[in-house]
Amino acid sequence: MDHPLAASSLTVLRDERTPRSRFRPTLHDLATMLVYEATRALPTMPVTVTTPLATTAGVRPAAEAVVAPVLRAGLGMLPAALGLLPDAHTAFIGLARDETTHRPTVYLEAVPADLTGRPVLLLDPMLATGGSALHCLRLLLDRGARGITVVAVVAAPEGLAALESGLPVAAAAELTVVAAAVDERLNDTAYIVPGLGDAGDRIYGEM
Ligand code: URA
Repeated sequence: MDHPLAASSLTVLRDERTPRSRFRPTLHDLATMLVYEATRALPTMPVTVTTPLATTAGVRPAAEAVVAPVLRAGLGMLPAALGLLPDAHTAFIGLARDETTHRPTVYLEAVPADLTGRPVLLLDPMLATGGSALHCLRLLLDRGARGITVVAVVAAPEGLAALESGLPVAAAAELTVVAAAVDERLNDTAYIVPGLGDAGDRIYGEM
């Protein structure tokens, strides 16, 4: 996403001196911009609306969206998504990162059984190896979701490549990734460089 306000919010998030008290509201602001961009093609249906002066044409979302934050860090983006999509359902996917293998361990999957025909946004600030996102995308695809949008603050080239190669061709072609930046690389502990550090720790504190 190329926008001066998004770039300036991302700079605040990257800064190691930014305290938690400023990190959270800045993430909220940036997530609002990212979700706004991610919903640019949201299907709508025509309605009529009566103003104080006349009846005219309007629109409303054609289907209730589903927002799926990846716990824990994705929760930091959830209020912004629900602010723009107040009728959305929330699907919770809990994944812990194994610090040795860097692979995700699943501890929660609370996802609507049928996602057919519903716009789905997967929220995760950091698209690093792509392992967590791939797990979530396969789950969402299994439940009938199509044309999913991944909303991230920072993406690594390795993560984007993993999504491209790790999904069925048709699903990869229908996938959209909206991120504020694509960074240089992953380091040897699978953190994004330059990145912003551990997003969950910066939002909620170290475990
Ligand atoms: N998760 C994070 O929070 N930060 C990274 O850089 C990579 C994964």
